[in-house]
Amino acid sequence: MDNRSANRRVAKLAAHLQPQIRRDPTAAHKAGFTVAVLGAAGGIGQPLSLLLKRCPLVADLRLYDVVPLAAGVAADVSHVNSRADTRGFHGPSQLPLALEGCDLVVIPAGVPRKPGMTRDDLFNINAGIVRDLVAACAKTCPNAVLNVISNPVNSTVPIAAEVLKDAGVYDPRRLMGVTHLDVMRARTFVSRSKGGDPNTIDIPVVGGHAGVTILPLLSQTRPFPKGGFTAEEARALTHRIQNGGTEVVDAKAGAGSATLSMAAAAAEFAHSVLRGLNGERNVLEHAFVESRLVPGCAFFASKVRLGRVGVEKVLGLGKLSDAEAAGLKALTPELSASIRKGFDFARASIPALTSSSTANAGSRLAAAPGLGA
Ligand SMILES: NC(=O)c1ccc[n+]([C@@H]2O[C@H](COP(=O)([O-])OP(=O)(O)OC[C@H]3O[C@@H](n4cnc5c(N)ncnc54)[C@H](O)[C@@H]3O)[C@@H](O)[C@H]2O)c1
Repeated sequence: MDNRSANRRVAKLAAHLQPQIRRDPTAAHKAGFTVAVLGAAGGIGQPLSLLLKRCPLVADLRLYDVVPLAAGVAADVSHVNSRADTRGFHGPSQLPLALEGCDLVVIPAGVPRKPGMTRDDLFNINAGIVRDLVAACAKTCPNAVLNVISNPVNSTVPIAAEVLKDAGVYDPRRLMGVTHLDVMRARTFVSRSKGGDPNTIDIPVVGGHAGVTILPLLSQTRPFPKGGFTAEEARALTHRIQNGGTEVVDAKAGAGSATLSMAAAAAEFAHSVLRGLNGERNVLEHAFVESRLVPGCAFFASKVRLGRVGVEKVLGLGKLSDAEAAGLKALTPELSASIRKGFDFARASIPALTSSSTANAGSRLAAAPGLGA
């Protein structure tokens, strides 16, 4: 058998094993994924739902919230002319219906910051919300890719991992904290200050998603600006990217945090995830994922390659400038502590969550495929 016919047979077999995922990356209009937004009636959830309705890779859009407004948001969004069927679901009894058969679940449920608050101040409320929603995903759509937006992402993603492990369905390739807004801010602020096209400029933003744990690698900006960055420019831009969220919280003066830019970021990131699931090659984004890049940080945001299974590969950090190396050293203790806080919360509260199914504890995916780097 020649190579071409062998490849055709492998492709046919793969299509048979995963029939819901279309394989031709050029035929985006044909592919159709089922996507749920949990927290769809909120400040992020509403515009995110609208943007996902327009995403050509979404065929079935499920909008879920604890408040009845979810039905109204779904009715409103459903009138936008695109192929995605759109339905609203409200309250815990309808959550399994919203999640049934999902390929991707995006989670912006929870409370946002008010002026003077850090993301960590949200922990007490949002940790339990994310734990319970991810437990429902583990039960109803264990193979879905999860995009966690709810803050503090540095802790809610580790919580989600523990819940999935407890249910015996953890695959690190399918769990991602959404840090794409940090990347968008870096592109915007750097191109405004140094020139360049904000649509195409590439600036890695690594670490986590809170204050100093957000580390833009300006030295790796491509194309690199003429004249580079002075130490003062690099310091000021780094500070602005790290505090972009607080800039919005303060400007909204108590009415919430970033919602519109976050919805744009979450929709762009979700689209990339779906492009990867759809078989497109070399889809590169940044995300907060299980990682071995930095000792002491079981999760870390870095550039990742997305593919048919979610995160195909965690890419390395590249060469850091002295200031960036110092930033990495400075962020590690805080990020590590936030991750530990998430693990501790999950481990302390999971027995209550799964008291009726302790059998699950023994079925953790000890051999879940790791993410390499
Ligand atoms: N990752 C990021 O870059 C980023 C950026 C901005 C905001 N955020 C975070 O996103 C979250 C949402 O922000 P927002 O401005 O949309 O808040 P919001 O209060 O406007 O909306 C949150 C929505 O979640 C719903 N909700 C609460 N508990 C729920 C549950 N158990 N199940 C389903 N829905 C539930 C609420 O009813 C509400 O509609 C916050 O935690 C915020 O800090 C993250």
